[in-house]
This record gives sequence, structure tokens and C-alpha cells, in this order.
Amino acid sequence: MVGRPFGKSYPSGHGEAGTVDTADTRVVVPASGSADRPTGRPDSPVSRAGLSRLLEQEPVLWPLAAIIDLGGPAAMVWVSGDRMPASSMPLTDQGSSSTASTIPVLVVGALGRMGAHVVRAVAAEADLDLVAAVDTAAAAQGQDIGSLLGLGALDVAVSQDLEGHLCLVSQQHRGAVMVDFTHPAVVYDHTRAAIAYGVHPVIGTTGLSPEQLDDLADFSRKASVGAAVIPNFSVGMVLLQQAAVAAARFYDHAELVELHHNGKADAPSGTCIKTAELLEAVGKIYNPTVVEEKESLAGSRGGQRPSGLRLHALRLPGLVAHQEVIFGGPGETYTLRHDTMDRSAYMPGVLKTIRQVGALEGLVYGLEHLL
Ligand SMILES: NC(=O)c1ccc[n+]([C@@H]2O[C@H](COP(=O)([O-])OP(=O)(O)OC[C@H]3O[C@@H](n4cnc5c(N)ncnc54)[C@H](O)[C@@H]3O)[C@@H](O)[C@H]2O)c1
Repeated sequence: MVGRPFGKSYPSGHGEAGTVDTADTRVVVPASGSADRPTGRPDSPVSRAGLSRLLEQEPVLWPLAAIIDLGGPAAMVWVSGDRMPASSMPLTDQGSSSTASTIPVLVVGALGRMGAHVVRAVAAEADLDLVAAVDTAAAAQGQDIGSLLGLGALDVAVSQDLEGHLCLVSQQHRGAVMVDFTHPAVVYDHTRAAIAYGVHPVIGTTGLSPEQLDDLADFSRKASVGAAVIPNFSVGMVLLQQAAVAAARFYDHAELVELHHNGKADAPSGTCIKTAELLEAVGKIYNPTVVEEKESLAGSRGGQRPSGLRLHALRLPGLVAHQEVIFGGPGETYTLRHDTMDRSAYMPGVLKTIRQVGALEGLVYGLEHLL
């Protein structure tokens, strides 16, 4: 079999539940939801007894991910078996070298500014195995990601078929991880899809709403698939946030400024929102009114959160990612600033999260929980 092995046929919601396609020895477990948005919950669930019967009938089954209705939300049940015959793998995945001791990693947004760094970082680690490079960039489809990034051939072709790769990797490996640096418009669907397939999401893409985060946390907990949403992978930023929380006890006035390159789509940055949330967790109201303010230019005073904290976003070419927390008190200011000069600053945090996400229970939000 060449190319996308399962494509949009999984899970489609059509066909007989739990049938074995002997042509390519795969088990089809239809699930509800659209083909584009698997929910991981079967319409016609395969019972444990049914699954056992299937395995008896079909001894050649390779690792099988069956979604079994346990009377509650989706749960993944893994049944080990023989490895998928190489001849039935898609061309791009033949020769996958993942072993029990390596973590298979899919990088989504692999050709982007962050994704390319992640591909390089993953390729350089002996315990990580790059198994898929997903990106929608039309010109790169089918080309080797390593060659495109000047790393030499990695035998991983760029593909835009995220769902096909999630399906494949979920059936070939346990504990696979999907790293996503794409776009705020698609990150929610990507994260849900990964969880539905039992692949651990490591989400760097910012812009998830509080409601979406709640929903993903709920979904990952019910599916027993550890997940991490990390608005900033820099260790220095975690230190800034901890210092800001310590300072917040002593100051009632604070404003946050985040500065980014002008290719950033969302504002304020997810990191800045996270910093504000941490300051708010201290349990105080900031910036009590001193004078009645009037803006002659709308937005001049930034965005104000219900806590009173004001957030300001600057976008300029030449910047990478920077944040200031400025506290004010009688006769003094106290400024904390963090500067990311290069995206390599994020890689230690990304690698650490990849290695830890498989052991998480539910969804973790923020690198500070993993340090
Ligand atoms: N968490 C962090 O530490 C951190 C650090 C930097 C950037 N970010 C965030 O990461 C995200 C990406 O940033 P960037 O600078 O790498 O962006 P970018 O525009 O350089 O890269 C995004 C890549 O995703 C690809 N893409 C877009 N939609 C896709 C889809 N549906 N499927 C697959 N690929 C798709 C694009 O083709 C592009 O190659 C942004 O949300 C940014 O704010 C987070």
C-alpha cells in the first residue's frame, strides 16, 4: 500500500463496527463524529468479547487501537500484536525505527519557524523518533523534511494528512507524541484529534480560548491521554512569572507588555495571558482608579482584564518574543523583563515536555508544572 493508508475512512461512522479488512489486515472501528473531526467515541462499540473474537479470527493483527465503550467517555484500549507488514505501510513511514525505548514524535507545522526548530531538535535526540512531518505548505508535499531543512535525508516526507498519520502512529506505537506549532484557527481540532487517537498532544500553538482549554482538559482526562498545552516553553519565562507572582504581594499597580514579531496572529500572546492569570491567582484587584481616564485614541491604554490588569501588545519586525511586567508603587517601579533572542530557547522545554507528557494524567497547562 502506498500513500495514505486509511485517509478519511477512519473513523467514518459508516460500515460494520469492528470488522476486519483482510486485504490490509486492519480492524475498522467506526466512531461517531465527522470524518474530519473524530470524537473517539464509537457509534457501535466493539465489546471486549467482540474484540477477543476478532483477535481469535485474525491472528495476523498488528497493534490494534480499539475504542471500547465503557459506558462513559472514550477510552483507548490497546491490544498488542505483530507489527504492521512493511509492505502495507505508507511510503513515507516505511523504515520507521521507533522502538520500545524511543518516543515516536509527529511534528505538525513542521515547516514553520517553530516547527522546523522542533524537527531539528527531535532528530538530534537518540530517544526520540521523528515519524511524521505534517504541514499544509503545498510546495513541500512529499519532500523529505530533513532535506528541506538542510539536515540530510530523514526518510520522513512532508504530508498534510494529519489524521492519516495520527491513525497510523496510534496503531503502530504506544505513547506517541504530537507536537503542534501551527495556527490558532486549527490548534483546537488538532488537539482533539490527537487525544481521540490516543496520541499525546504537546501544544505550543497559542490562542486556545478558556472554554476550549476546559473542553480539552475534560476530554484528555476522560480518554486517559496525557496532554500538555504550554504557552511558553522557555525556562526563563517561567522564572519571570514566578518572580512576578512573588512581587505581586507588594504592589497594587501592574501592567504587562508583550512584544513579538509582526508575523504573530493572536494578541495578546498566550504567555502574557498566562502571566496575568498567575498574578490574578494571588487574589487581588490591580490598578485601583486614581483619576477618571479618557482615551483620545481607542486602545491607547491596552486591554483591561476584570482583575484590573492591563495588557499591551507590540508587533514589530526584528522582535522575536519579549515580555515585561512593570509594577508601580510610591516613588518606585519594579520591572521584570524576559527576552527570547532565538527560538532555540524553547527547545529544552519542548524536549522535556515530549518526554513527560506520556506520564501525565489529563491536561497540564504551563511548563512550570513540568520543571
Ligand atoms: N509555546 C511557545 O513557546 C511558542 C513559541 C513561539 C511561537 N508559539 C506559537 O506557535 C504557533 C506557530 O508559530 P510559528 O512562528 O512557528 O508560525 P509559522 O507561521 O512560522 O508556522 C506555522 C506552520 O504551520 C503550518 N500550518 C498552518 N496550518 C496548518 C495545518 N492546518 N496543518 C498543518 N500545518 C499547518 C504552516 O504552513 C506553517 O509552516 C503560533 O501560535 C505562535 O504564537 C509558541
